[in-house]
Amino acid sequence: MRIAVYPGSFDPFTNGHLDILERSLRLFDEIVVAVLVNPNKNCLIQSSDRVQLIKNVLGERPGVRVEQFNGLLVDFCHKSNAVAVIRGLRAVSDYEYEVQLSTVNRQLAPDLETVFMMSSPQYSFLSSSIVKEIARYGGPIDNLVPALVAEELRKNFSATWKVKTPA
Ligand code: PNS
Repeated sequence: MRIAVYPGSFDPFTNGHLDILERSLRLFDEIVVAVLVNPNKNCLIQSSDRVQLIKNVLGERPGVRVEQFNGLLVDFCHKSNAVAVIRGLRAVSDYEYEVQLSTVNRQLAPDLETVFMMSSPQYSFLSSSIVKEIARYGGPIDNLVPALVAEELRKNFSATWKVKTPA
């Protein structure tokens, strides 16, 4: 049984994340989607809601578990009996941060590998921040995130739209 952890803030979970998750399932028997709960990080969607939302989006998908974590990722991976961490890479701009993260993780836990997956081209521009930016101004997000996430974002931002200054 080869288990990998797919960690992130997932604020919110996008179609790009879903693509990486689905492709990772071809390589591992089980993927644990690990949602970072960091009280110091200002997230749009509350941690417990984020976990539940991802669970709802993924439904009963064989080989996938969704859990929250805080503290060191390597500790969570050991607790989960994972052999690898999955990270998606979109562009060169991701590289520096990801090298840093994987190097630190390797020093903390030499037994863990980081597996990088290149984003599919249609998602290479997509990030949670971009999605929030579009949603904040009432733009179309339906092709960027799963339907349940789009609904949640609309709920979050609709108050802002109502106070938009008239043209
Ligand atoms: O989606 P993100 O925000 O880029 O994910 C970053 C994440 C959650 C993978 C990273 O912040 C993380 O692993 N945080 C837990 C603390 C940790 O172990 N940090 C690495 C060693 S300093």
